[in-house]
Amino acid sequence: MRRKIIAGNWKMNMTPSQAVALVNELKPLVANEEVDVVFCVPAIDIIPAMEAAKGSNINIGAENMHFEESGAYTGEISASMLTDVGVKYVVIGHSERREYFGETDETVNKKVLKALEHNITPIICCGETLTQREQGITIDFVRQQIKVAFLNVTAEQAKNTVIAYEPIWAIGTGKVATTEQAEEVCAAIRECIREIYDTDTAEAIRIQYGGSVSAASAPELFAQPNIDGGLVGGASLKPDFGKIVNYNK
Ligand code: PGA
Repeated sequence: MRRKIIAGNWKMNMTPSQAVALVNELKPLVANEEVDVVFCVPAIDIIPAMEAAKGSNINIGAENMHFEESGAYTGEISASMLTDVGVKYVVIGHSERREYFGETDETVNKKVLKALEHNITPIICCGETLTQREQGITIDFVRQQIKVAFLNVTAEQAKNTVIAYEPIWAIGTGKVATTEQAEEVCAAIRECIREIYDTDTAEAIRIQYGGSVSAASAPELFAQPNIDGGLVGGASLKPDFGKIVNYNK
């Protein structure tokens, strides 16, 4: 049985003081011993959010990191900087990073390798555009993203990664994929992992759905055999996130 992992992605929201207030507000609401809970927050919020989350089940993660160890990369954050303050999760290759900051499958792969080298669990994002879905190439496209993201990643390492399937047309649009659409692609991703590695690895890896997840849609989505939780944007900034984390109560 895979343990569910429910992660919030705050994106470019919340100042450090707002972050502390939000963690304090959500702390009692997201208590659920049966799932892993992660808040992926802006870099400047990581330390104050961690302080605020102390003694709770909330893990504080990052939204991005660079693939080099250190050096002349103005404005970037390294894996060692994250581990130095105790970060264990990082979102890699979110579609907004790909669209607005030129990230590619190749840079995603480099970041995944660097995160794993530092024992940080990458939450690796993939997902198709509306055009690709309408063209019927969703699964081919996502398989390619997965294959490149996992280049040179060992089976042992792959077991410690999380994949987030996020159809781009469902992100921030209120247009959640149907349960069938989400399960179909998550199952195809697991099959792709099985082809790259083996059944053991495919059964161990956790695959989230993301894109307009709400308290209303979470229970059915997370009950699917191949959906092991969610990556939640908008709703992770609200008390509703507590209901999503407690989808099984
Ligand atoms: P959303 O964002 O829940 O607001 O659609 C999801 C995401 O971008 O991870």
